[in-house]
Amino acid sequence: MRILVKKMKIAIANDHAGVECKKALCEYISQMGHEVVNFGTDQLSSCDYPDYAKAVANEVASGRAQRGILICGTGVGMSIAANKVKGIRASLCDSTFIAEMTRKHNDSNVLCMGQRVTSLDTMKQIVEVYLNTPFDEENCPGRHTARINKIEN
Ligand code: RB5
Repeated sequence: MRILVKKMKIAIANDHAGVECKKALCEYISQMGHEVVNFGTDQLSSCDYPDYAKAVANEVASGRAQRGILICGTGVGMSIAANKVKGIRASLCDSTFIAEMTRKHNDSNVLCMGQRVTSLDTMKQIVEVYLNTPFDEENCPGRHTARINKIEN
């Protein structure tokens, strides 16, 4: 686990298909030194992922949390729903490569993953990379920001 550079507030949520990984990731992210706020369900009874995506997306869009993490069965539903909220750039990641690139190029602020797709060990690696990788404007100043602004506008 990499040493924490900057403490962040992380809003996390899940539906019934993401309970186990959510619990483990809450502990892992706390150990990294970040503050974790759980908006997800802790029950296995069926529920609707858009409600949880909205809760986390609103926390991030309002600035109350610096990053969000959403887990459902595939991560797809959560990412579709979260990206409906203005200011949210939610990324479905199943590898550390995508996690790194989406932080560097898209300044992604919500990480989505699927418990039925990605193992807990891989999720932990993805989370570590996602939370430790800064937005990269150094190599090509303005380029990524201009593209993100096009999405916003
Ligand atoms: C729930 O069965 C499942 O549809 C949900 O967790 C998610 O994978 C949707 O995209």
